[in-house]
Amino acid sequence: MASARTPDEPLIGELLEEGRRRLAGAGLARREAALLLAHRRGTGEAQHLARDREPAGTHHAARYREWTARRAAGEPAAYLFGEREFYGRPFSVDRRVLVPRPETELLVETALSLPLPARPRLLDLGTGSGCLAVTLALELPEARVLATDRSTGALAVARGNARRHGVGDRIHLLAADLATGLATGLAGGGFDLVVTNPPYVDPGERDALPATVRDFEPPAALFAPGHGLSVWLRLLAEVGPAMSPRAWLTGEIGCGQLPALAAAAERSALALEGVRDDLAGIPRVVVLRRRA
Ligand SMILES: C[S@@+](CC[C@H](N)C(=O)[O-])C[C@H]1O[C@@H](n2cnc3c(N)ncnc32)[C@H](O)[C@@H]1O
Repeated sequence: MASARTPDEPLIGELLEEGRRRLAGAGLARREAALLLAHRRGTGEAQHLARDREPAGTHHAARYREWTARRAAGEPAAYLFGEREFYGRPFSVDRRVLVPRPETELLVETALSLPLPARPRLLDLGTGSGCLAVTLALELPEARVLATDRSTGALAVARGNARRHGVGDRIHLLAADLATGLATGLAGGGFDLVVTNPPYVDPGERDALPATVRDFEPPAALFAPGHGLSVWLRLLAEVGPAMSPRAWLTGEIGCGQLPALAAAAERSALALEGVRDDLAGIPRVVVLRRRA
């Protein structure tokens, strides 16, 4: 039974219409208003239609208005919800980490297609939310994973996701600057597979990025000087000693970066063995192998 409506409490239909107007005014799809409300109330979108004459609840209404205001200001919906799905599983996210992207699922598929030893040692460089490390730990139950990031905030988010998915005991998290110190010491080197989705956006393209990315996601997760390639070039030059002979590295690259990456690989300890295109036909994932 619906509870009595307080004087300043909107009906569900009124709240939804208010949200639609606000988002449309910010150039966003009106449909997002229903999505936000469904998330806020923990219901399906269709229920709003059937229940549009019911009181929305003052608490839900206040939070919903806050969400639509933040969304209208460009904040990614994933930060509002505190969550984004990746490879079929929910990952907690906040402004300390990049929101996992659908195209990065191609990196998981590529990693899973590689021939690995029965109990592989995996290294995820620049783990962010931990979406790659956690997914690979779940898909490869015998794997042990080292996940690194330079951002301690990101490592805290990744730790939460590793625990959330029950793989906290198989993922070791470490603050590190790319591969520095990973060939020896506690990290121990000898990795059979390295996965990485490093920052690869040219800082010169900052103004061309959607505001939702540019103004909200961590700059350290997005930008790399030198036309977006500086982190990749360092990685190619430095990661070899942390890998087993003939071990694999697969990683994500930006649009148009393949020729420069291939040239840099020629001069490195790794050989370029393959490239996979994303759904838009853009070379997106590279596969490299340590020469010996
Ligand atoms: C593009 S995000 C990728 C996050 C996650 N792996 C994903 O695919 O969604 C890149 C990550 O690399 C980290 N990073 C940037 N430069 C780094 C460096 N020099 N050493 C280690 N991590 C770095 C950033 O903090 C960020 O979390």
